[in-house]
Amino acid sequence: MAKPVLRTKLCDILGIEYPILSAGMGPSLVGEKTGATVELVVAVSEAGGLGVLGAAGYSVDEMRDCIREIRKLTDKPFGVDLLLPAQTVGVEDQKVRGAAEIPLSDIIKTLPKAHYDWIMKIKEEMGLPDIDAKVNLGATTMRPHAAVQACIEEKVPLFCAGLGNPGFMVADAHAAGMRVLGIAGNTRNAGRIAKSGVDLVVAQGHEGGGHTGRIGSAALWPQAIDAAAPTPVLAAGGIGDGRGVAAALAMGCVGVWVGTRFLASKEGGALEVQKEAILAAADEDTRRTYLYTGKTSRATYNKFHDLWEQSGLEALPFPTQVMIASSLVEMFTKAGKKEYIGPFAGQVAGLIQDIKPAARILEEMVEQTVDILARKLPETVIAKA
Ligand SMILES: Cc1cc2nc3c(=O)[nH]c(=O)nc-3n(C[C@H](O)[C@H](O)[C@H](O)COP(=O)(O)O)c2cc1C
Repeated sequence: MAKPVLRTKLCDILGIEYPILSAGMGPSLVGEKTGATVELVVAVSEAGGLGVLGAAGYSVDEMRDCIREIRKLTDKPFGVDLLLPAQTVGVEDQKVRGAAEIPLSDIIKTLPKAHYDWIMKIKEEMGLPDIDAKVNLGATTMRPHAAVQACIEEKVPLFCAGLGNPGFMVADAHAAGMRVLGIAGNTRNAGRIAKSGVDLVVAQGHEGGGHTGRIGSAALWPQAIDAAAPTPVLAAGGIGDGRGVAAALAMGCVGVWVGTRFLASKEGGALEVQKEAILAAADEDTRRTYLYTGKTSRATYNKFHDLWEQSGLEALPFPTQVMIASSLVEMFTKAGKKEYIGPFAGQVAGLIQDIKPAARILEEMVEQTVDILARKLPETVIAKA
């Protein structure tokens, strides 16, 4: 059978075959090395889409190593995603001379007393083991300026900013021949990010995994397209197969940015217990919470959410809240308390029934999209201009 053709102007902008990107997914928590790994990036880019490395949990040097590793494994375009919230971009990078790694158990002692006492109370009541994880002060999230500079030096084909506005680095990135993408969860931010000069805007709906806003995808995508025009918009949030891709293209998006479906792939970096949680989840089984990062993020529901709600505590600002969640998740993991652990994941988890190679996921998405657009719609919808 001939290879299906599915092209939009995104394919020309990025030099790719299909308008499908795997989202840059970093690890949710300290100590994890999960998310969009080198293997996932290479698999998606080699299959004709564009894979994006989730570099939020790496040190700047580890990120550079990953970029070089990707280049060894594929000559296709790829992306790197960093979190650039105003809280960290607005201040100087962490100085990391001396010990770059600090025990998480020491860091949580500097939290407000009520938060620290709560962590210790849970530890004691549930008989949890000690915390061993280390916080890497050299992580890209703590050193966004150095991380951006490294991406520019490495001439990463597509730079992606998961949180915040990458406008400050667009001129330098363009001078290095790179493309820049920003992510928005509402219409105002889609317009703001587009105006800052990026090449592409991702509009991510409420139903998406990870950090997510309040507006559902079907309402957001067309409004974001209008607000960002003439900058092209990619759709994100709730896309798990070709039906989602076809809908997004029909609305005027130039392509899609897919997280949860690619996380639940053979190459996706999630732990086995996290992949199992996605397979087990139905559409109702995710929650949006401040618990993990201090910003609203969506993860599969688990008992940790109940503990947090019962605590009555206010979430601390990003990234301090990450320390609270990380310390408890590490203890739950070591104690085998699976019912208290769940990955960042979107409502589309209910559609995901199997873990398969990322290339197969992409091929099936393309085949189904083409079948809908080229065959099913003309057969089932009567439309005459
Ligand atoms: C496990 C996980 C980690 C994520 N981490 C990041 C991240 O580090 N940076 C980012 O830009 N987006 C991150 N996201 C959001 C994705 O980029 C994407 O916008 C979202 O997954 C799209 O919705 P979907 O999950 O319904 O496909 C993450 C999502 C998941 C599921």
